[in-house]
Amino acid sequence: MSDTTTTDEVVTEFKVTYFDSSKAGRLAIVTMDNGRDYTRPNTFGAGALASLNAAVDQIEAQADVKGVLLTGKQFIFAVGADLSTFAGVTPEMVRAAGEGGHEAFLRLRDLPVPTVAAINGACMGGGFEIALHCGYRTLSRGAAAIAFPEVFLSIFPAWGGTQLAPLLVGVENALKAIVVNPLNQNKMLKPSEAFELGYADRLFDSVDFLEDSIAFLEDIVTGAAVVERPDHTNPANLDELLANARKLADDKVHGATRAPYVAIDLIEFAARGGSLAEGYRREEDGLTELVPSRQAQASVYAFNLVQQRVKKQPWKPDAKPRAVGKVAVIGSGLMGAQLGALFLQSYESPLVMKDIDEAVLARARAHIEGELDKRVQRGRLTAGKAEFLKGLVTYTLDYEEIRGADFVIEAVVEVLDLKKQIFADCEQLVDPGAILATNTSSLSVTAMGADLAHPDRVVGFHFFNPVAVMPLLEVVRTEASSEEAMATAFAVAKKLKKSAVQCGDMPAFVVNRLLTRFMGACATAVNKGNDFAEVDDAVKELGLPMGPFELLGLVGLAVAAHVGETMHHAYPDRFPLDANMQALGSTELPGIYDWSKGRVPYDEILALWQPEAGAQKLTAEEIRAVALESVADEIRHMLDEGVVADARDIDTCMILGAGWPFFMGGICKFLDQTGISEKLFGAPLIGEVDKAFATA
Ligand code: NAI
Repeated sequence: MSDTTTTDEVVTEFKVTYFDSSKAGRLAIVTMDNGRDYTRPNTFGAGALASLNAAVDQIEAQADVKGVLLTGKQFIFAVGADLSTFAGVTPEMVRAAGEGGHEAFLRLRDLPVPTVAAINGACMGGGFEIALHCGYRTLSRGAAAIAFPEVFLSIFPAWGGTQLAPLLVGVENALKAIVVNPLNQNKMLKPSEAFELGYADRLFDSVDFLEDSIAFLEDIVTGAAVVERPDHTNPANLDELLANARKLADDKVHGATRAPYVAIDLIEFAARGGSLAEGYRREEDGLTELVPSRQAQASVYAFNLVQQRVKKQPWKPDAKPRAVGKVAVIGSGLMGAQLGALFLQSYESPLVMKDIDEAVLARARAHIEGELDKRVQRGRLTAGKAEFLKGLVTYTLDYEEIRGADFVIEAVVEVLDLKKQIFADCEQLVDPGAILATNTSSLSVTAMGADLAHPDRVVGFHFFNPVAVMPLLEVVRTEASSEEAMATAFAVAKKLKKSAVQCGDMPAFVVNRLLTRFMGACATAVNKGNDFAEVDDAVKELGLPMGPFELLGLVGLAVAAHVGETMHHAYPDRFPLDANMQALGSTELPGIYDWSKGRVPYDEILALWQPEAGAQKLTAEEIRAVALESVADEIRHMLDEGVVADARDIDTCMILGAGWPFFMGGICKFLDQTGISEKLFGAPLIGEVDKAFATA
């Protein structure tokens, strides 16, 4: 965001053409276009606002214009402010940008003739807001995404969105788009949904979208079409709706970012009948506070990591990847079955599912076929194609079937000798260039390949459970891994639509290593006499999606104890074996809490956990300090050891593999912003120069 046109702003021009309608008279068609293809969407900076003002000047000068239609370029309406301009802005720059947007959009709203926003494609943030400043909206069924993603980025729609949406669609539907969806993994609205919520007056097919939209404008101008606008101010259930929204914000961000709360307050102001002028002034105040805040700045950093940096696969070697025509999955249990489903749907090529247990194979088959059936039910796959894909899979107890596979991934139980044996067996059956990948969580990938004839073909391919949902893939490179093997690993990751981060072959790689150290620090607090829930709540106030003891219910107590042991063997000083955590691992319980009673630990756990005699409980502040300093210390070791080359890789992993929030920028960004890195290491963790793009 800037108050002057910067040289790198790709300016969205508002181009005006005229259409003489036999029914309605002269119509102005305003097209937003930045002159680039759809990969570079229309955004609004100072240059775009100047162009909008010029377009309105031009229309105002034509006395015979009877109506205005605003639309976008191919696939894109407009996606709002350009986030790359947010870094390092001053409050004065933010206020100027807020005011500039309001002024320009209001001029469009105040035109004396009917205005229709014809939303032909992706419409987000400021793009959605300019549409709300038109009198009417049409929406194409083919539009990719309709959303107010701002709250997800720790800001809020501040070019009128919080004031106009509640008046147009009511408080509940405004809250849904502005607060609820962004807090739920930044969900977008489908065109049909946006239409049902009242954000558009007409929903048209994409083929004749522009013609249909012009016809609608003609009908509005001539009076053939009339749209009723109910009064949405002060609904009877307003207090309840607002209270629910505030509770959702508490559950999701635990007060750690102000954005959802500010957005709710502003929506409330409009819903209670506040004036537009005062509402816009409050939006400007809120924006001026939030954009320069730690949380919004971290969010823009995080957005760049996961939307741009990781997609460039900066660590991918230049070598030519091997073409993958046939895939084999060895071990078809919890992870293997999910990997099979993912590979089959991405590659649509022959797949071998191998296990030693018929019953496991039957379950894997049920999972893989069930996933295809679900896609058929949702209309994403034809029944015929699903049958074809099912026919590509061989479920087998016999190794022979993997002959000719280009990519083999093992997901058998976590036992090194077994995995070594499996790779040795596979090596007999595939050609020397075929890749052998392991989904191990914590074993040495180097050791797994050490006795092979071609250890250079071995890579780690560490997925996260549930595989279909978790975007991260830790791609482990050993000293022996060849350039071709790594290039293939990155190409496979891309085909599977996973975000691949390259890690060195160090115990537990990135996410599990950091979570284990974090868990160790939190367990210390329970050893000192704090309740599990007290510790969970203390760290959740940072904004983490769940506390470490809640997370144990997903990971499994035995798995956590096992990773704890692995880490202890590797780094005994920093990962002491905690007798209580080890004891948990031998229970058969699903987690710490018995959720049937609320968030209450199982009696068995309370009975076995032995707090330190005479220890003093920690305050919430102390718990957070111990946990954060432990994590910071571990990150320093990881960077020194070269687990990853740049702290940005760690943040990418924690955002995509552990769900740590954008507004913490993962974790390194937060440690740098809050001065913890400086205090502990005398310097920030994130270097000025991104090593991924540094020239040697
Ligand atoms: P699982 O116990 O559900 O599945 C392992 C499967 O391997 C079983 O079906 C077993 O019959 C099969 N198996 C054992 N010996 C075999 C052999 N010689 N040939 C073929 N199949 C054989 O285990 P899970 O949870 O799927 O884990 C598998 C691997 O994935 C482990 O290395 C684990 O560390 C890793 N992993 C697990 C995650 C999780 O959340 N469970 C997440 C990421 C990685």
